[in-house]
Amino acid sequence: MAEARREHFGGRLAIIMAMAGSAIGLGNIWRFPYLAGEHGGAAFIFVYIIASIFLSMPIFLAEAIIGRRSHANTYGAMEKLAPGTKWKWLSILTILAPLIIVSYYSVVGGWSIEYLVKSLAFSFNSTPKEEITSMFAGFISQPWMPIVCHTAFLGTCAVILTAGVKSGIEKFSNWSVPILFVLILIILVYSLTLPGAMEGVEYMIKPDFSKIDSEVILAAMGQSFYSLSLGVGTILVYSSYVSKNENLLVSGFGTAIFDLMFALMAGFAVMTAVFSAGVKPGAGPGLIFESLPFVFATMAESAPVVSGVISILFFVTILVSALTSGVSLMEVGVAYLVEEKKMRRGVATFTVFAGTWTLGCLCSLSFGPMNEFRIFGNSLFEFCDWISSNFLMAIGAMLFSLFVGWKMKKSDVYDEFTNGGTLRFNVRCFKAVYFLVRYIAPLVIGIIFLSGLLL
Ligand code: PHE
Repeated sequence: MAEARREHFGGRLAIIMAMAGSAIGLGNIWRFPYLAGEHGGAAFIFVYIIASIFLSMPIFLAEAIIGRRSHANTYGAMEKLAPGTKWKWLSILTILAPLIIVSYYSVVGGWSIEYLVKSLAFSFNSTPKEEITSMFAGFISQPWMPIVCHTAFLGTCAVILTAGVKSGIEKFSNWSVPILFVLILIILVYSLTLPGAMEGVEYMIKPDFSKIDSEVILAAMGQSFYSLSLGVGTILVYSSYVSKNENLLVSGFGTAIFDLMFALMAGFAVMTAVFSAGVKPGAGPGLIFESLPFVFATMAESAPVVSGVISILFFVTILVSALTSGVSLMEVGVAYLVEEKKMRRGVATFTVFAGTWTLGCLCSLSFGPMNEFRIFGNSLFEFCDWISSNFLMAIGAMLFSLFVGWKMKKSDVYDEFTNGGTLRFNVRCFKAVYFLVRYIAPLVIGIIFLSGLLL
């Protein structure tokens, strides 16, 4: 039986490390700090935490319940838990979504490889500061080099995946997540000692409750979703590798806490550095690949070696955090092909690699030779980002919460969430969790979804 051959994560810590590896990524480094600063500092962080508890956590648990109940990939899970229904066809969307995300995500992962190489060559020390911005624009619009880097990034994810759940995903996240925390801590401590660092701290946390409006609430919810890797089946598939005696609530909270801690540390590290160099903080690729190299170039004027070392550590952090997320995104497709199409793991990984590599190449070219090709006014890269984070993730999250809240038997949900009634705390909060999954999550996601379409 396929079930008997299915691999499992090695224990509570391994599960949290793998899930935190998926959660911690570019979203923590380039989106969170900017959103927090723009949207009222501590006030935003407060809304973000509330959204994570009352919206993201129930959706996380819904995905985890489906995954662990079925011990199957997204499609197989729906077929197992709701045999003969249309749910499995809907689940195809949540298999395509992570593949679209990883296609463009790996282009950015590839840029971080190029920038790591640049740091290793101490390039930011020798480039005149005015040229740093044009250096980035020049690099991403080239046809070949970004594709080489994208290939290297995606290829590394594929190699990890081919090794399997335990020897690949688990092993990689077990050592990389702690390393990520050590690295970000070193960078943070250093950034806090820079002159003018406090301005950055203030930007991130100065509470301004007057800024909280519907737009900010939506931004906080969207970020919490993206950051916790929800709605695209990654948590579902990872949970399908969790054994029956683990506590899903603990996995959920553990992951969310690691993810938040990393976002805050990265936020302070990035913003203090950016402010101390007198740069205006931006968001997205510009924050990492333009503002930060500019900061390193500025720091190099007084401390070239330290600046060089910090820039290396920084790009290693970005690269590794993106790799652990990339692996989780690809695993959704790999698990599907292995279990439903009966492919060998290596073949399945190669198939996913080939598809996402091709789309990724087109996304990469959309910064250069294919820039003229537009979909609703967006380049292919922008379109993939938009359709997945505003549309597919919300649909997926809605699907999972409706499935658990309305399709699965309440007694099965209870059984899975409380491990057959043995977890006392889970038994006590089941009613609240079930209410959030059944009513609140679908309603709120519907609102986010509509606003995403309208914005
Ligand atoms: N959570 C990842 C980040 O913050 C992105 C991601 C989204 C990963 C969805 C997996 C699934 O960068």
